[in-house]
Amino acid sequence: MPTAVKSVLPVVLLGCGGVGRYLLRHIVSCRPLHANQGVAIRVVGVADSSSLLVADDVNSSGLDDALLTHLCAAKSAGSPLSSLLGQGNYQLFRNPEARSKVIDAATMLGRTTGLVLVDCSATYDTVNLMKDAVGHGCCIVLANKKPLTGAYEDFQKLVSNFRQIRFESTVGAGLPVIASVTRIVASGDPISRIVGSLSDPRDDLGGMDVARKALILARLLGQQISMDNINVESLYPSELGPDAVSTEDFLESGLEQLDRSMEERVKAASSRGNVLRYVCEIGSKRCQVGLKELPKDSVLGRLRGSDNVVEIYSRCYKSSPLVIQGAGAGNDTTAAGVLADIMDLQDLFQKPA
Ligand SMILES: NC(=O)c1ccc[n+]([C@@H]2O[C@H](COP(=O)([O-])OP(=O)(O)OC[C@H]3O[C@@H](n4cnc5c(N)ncnc54)[C@H](OP(=O)(O)O)[C@@H]3O)[C@@H](O)[C@H]2O)c1
Ligand SMILES: *[C@@H]1O[C@H](CO)[C@@H](O)[C@H](O)[C@H]1NC(C)=O
Repeated sequence: MPTAVKSVLPVVLLGCGGVGRYLLRHIVSCRPLHANQGVAIRVVGVADSSSLLVADDVNSSGLDDALLTHLCAAKSAGSPLSSLLGQGNYQLFRNPEARSKVIDAATMLGRTTGLVLVDCSATYDTVNLMKDAVGHGCCIVLANKKPLTGAYEDFQKLVSNFRQIRFESTVGAGLPVIASVTRIVASGDPISRIVGSLSDPRDDLGGMDVARKALILARLLGQQISMDNINVESLYPSELGPDAVSTEDFLESGLEQLDRSMEERVKAASSRGNVLRYVCEIGSKRCQVGLKELPKDSVLGRLRGSDNVVEIYSRCYKSSPLVIQGAGAGNDTTAAGVLADIMDLQDLFQKPA
């Protein structure tokens, strides 16, 4: 006999780029697995930068799997959601109406069944929607760091119902970094230091992406700080920054200059038996991002490729830190982390027996 459905989770997805599309594919392919656990994820709406596709009756049904699969194919091919004007039990709204339709759904479902609003976009623009959703009692899940790294008041509002928010994928993609920090904080074990390699510097020469991750961790430790308070060592000197040099010039000659000065630093470190790693370091009162010389045979020193490593030091993890290591990026892994976050909310959506 099939397991009875115990939890139905209505989901509205903001953003269907690399991560959002993988999330939709995972949701569709995990149907049998979730059914075995008595869980059904109902995707009631999907938005891109210009429009929202939403089920006709968000209270009773979602977008069907064939449509979700078709939608992913269309977005992969570069077509906007608004190109999907076919038959089906859904409606399409363009901006700015799309935004108010998301709020309508959040208001209605927040009062009745509940809703998970998932942010897989890469913009600050979703922050007010996310805050409104929280205000209406909805759950939120984010892969997008930007809403959590703007004004401190926004962060405070977003995490105000801490059981109703998940944002594991914002730091280290699918790795359980946030969950580990949250558990240690909840147990009253004071975290004295977090050191992490959380970036692929090739994509983040300015260090801003890793600074956002550091800020999220620092705020979790109770620091009421903002991006301005983080000391970020950029991998390029300011005379080669985007304000001073065009991208073409940078790629033409800037990279070569960078390589030369970097080579010297690497050599100097090596002569001391050390290696250079681009890390973030969060103490109880400080937060910084930059190059650090570390012993070759330390966990961070041994790091290769695009793996991420986070070391957490606390009273319990003092001489031997808690270490979390593994692939820290990729659309598939990140989307899997988002799906695990959604599944983690299932108990809030349990139907009375
Ligand atoms: N990929 C990774 O390895 C990884 C790892 C950890 C975290 N993340 C985070 O995950 C998020 C998604 O990454 P991605 O690689 O999928 O980005 P992406 O490919 O650039 O996709 C972003 C999506 O968001 C949509 N969008 C833009 N503004 C929007 C708005 N106001 N409302 C709703 N949707 C909007 C875009 O619409 P259009 O399609 O119309 O442009 C696009 O579909 C980012 O915040 C990223 O930092 C990614
Ligand atoms: C993630 O998806 C984006 C958008 O489709 C793509 O450009 C990028 O190459 C993908 N990244 C990986 C690591 O597959």
